[in-house]
Amino acid sequence: MTTFPHGFLWGGAIAANQAEGAFDADGKGLSTADMVPYYKKKDYTNLKELMHVTSETIKRGMQHTSAEGYPKRYGIDFYHRFKEDIALFGELGFKVFRMSINWSRIFPNGDDAEPNEKGLQFYDDMFDEMHKYGIEPLVTLSHYEMPMSLVLNYGGWRNRAVIAFYEKYAETVMTRYRDKVKYWLTFNEINTTVIEPFTGGGVVEDTVDNIREASYQALHHQFVASSLVTRKGREINPEFRIGCMLARMIHYPATSDPEDVLQAQIDNQLNLMHTDVQARGSYPPFMKRYFADHNIQLVTEPGDELLLRENTVDFISFSYYTSLISTVTPEKYGVTGGNLFSTVKNPNLKITEWGWQLDPIGLRIVLKELYDRYQLPLFVVENGLGAKDKVEEDGSIQDDYRIDYLRKHITQVKEAVLDGVEVMGYTAWGAIDIISASTSEMSKRYGVIYVDQDDDGHGTLERKKKKSFYWYQKAIASNGADL
Ligand code: BG6
Repeated sequence: MTTFPHGFLWGGAIAANQAEGAFDADGKGLSTADMVPYYKKKDYTNLKELMHVTSETIKRGMQHTSAEGYPKRYGIDFYHRFKEDIALFGELGFKVFRMSINWSRIFPNGDDAEPNEKGLQFYDDMFDEMHKYGIEPLVTLSHYEMPMSLVLNYGGWRNRAVIAFYEKYAETVMTRYRDKVKYWLTFNEINTTVIEPFTGGGVVEDTVDNIREASYQALHHQFVASSLVTRKGREINPEFRIGCMLARMIHYPATSDPEDVLQAQIDNQLNLMHTDVQARGSYPPFMKRYFADHNIQLVTEPGDELLLRENTVDFISFSYYTSLISTVTPEKYGVTGGNLFSTVKNPNLKITEWGWQLDPIGLRIVLKELYDRYQLPLFVVENGLGAKDKVEEDGSIQDDYRIDYLRKHITQVKEAVLDGVEVMGYTAWGAIDIISASTSEMSKRYGVIYVDQDDDGHGTLERKKKKSFYWYQKAIASNGADL
């Protein structure tokens, strides 16, 4: 017996900058992701070291003309191999494939007068290929890959002028693909903009005085841009379904001490304020105090409030990897890592090699909480396990740990559905091994399809089906009855 609704959108997800490679092919401009080198020595609890991009990093990146040492520039060569990969997604039985359009393929400099036809054609071909297998595209318009020129010449999203460039880009692709794409997300993990401002908003910390203020300013511009594009999308095709995307970071209090409980509430509010704006249409009242306490003066325009209110999203999508702990006495506990977060350790949870706490029940809690709060359809668009895989002598990959992860998490989605939550779909992160967003490693693998490439970019790029491939194929074929 299955509890998943008929038409549940099973699938997988990737981002252009982590998969396509071909960073300078066919007229593509440089993007923010192309500035990120691979650092061999890493402290996974130290976000600053992993993802932080300074003016100096950018200077080096702009002078570096090859892909060597910059894994996101070569990805897994999805640009040239997407047909082979989409055929495997078809074999998996995917109903949906979440991918992003790399903005810098369409408008290489961001402010170009005309789009790059070769970039547009590339995605046309990709969508056609998906439709051959009955796979619906779910397109993220901006997934950590804005054109570098918009950073260098405009200061990234903190400059209001960027809104118009994004609008033009979105209108161009929504018009071009109006009959090929139904599901759209305006920004990946929009809350990243205030956590890692370069990755999320193209804001370089050492170029501003008050980085928190600059980040929230950038975020405000993204909210406005998202609403404008949601409005525009509905004009282009009323059948479009347009969603927002949050990295849901649920915080549990470390203890029952009311101080810890209050801290957890604040941390949750700061995370959920993004969906509050995009789904309810206005900033929650507590943000007024937060802005005042942190010396943040947002520059807004008179029409912004109405625009946000009138153009809220059709559904809420989110990534979920882990839960976090809030406390007013963090020094009492050890710290564990993550890509956008580090948190004190939850003694009840096991952690991955990268310090991410494994908490399947947290996914059910998140689904219930989001549905209670917004009563909008929910879409789990990222969830998965980053792990090292070993190819056995017979060529097989016995990734039982990944099966275990997926089974436990999907079971919790099922429980949430039984709780009455409206869930549109589930796209496993990675689906195929790609370059890690945070560490730029290849060895942090999420896929059910293995890609033969190491951290230095060596390998045949051959694709192999892992044991989890067959498990996920069966889970999809049974619409979640056989997990
Ligand atoms: C999400 C991002 O934060 O986490 C993805 O949207 C990313 O781009 C994923 O790949 C997993 O993170 P990482 O750092 O392990 O690749």
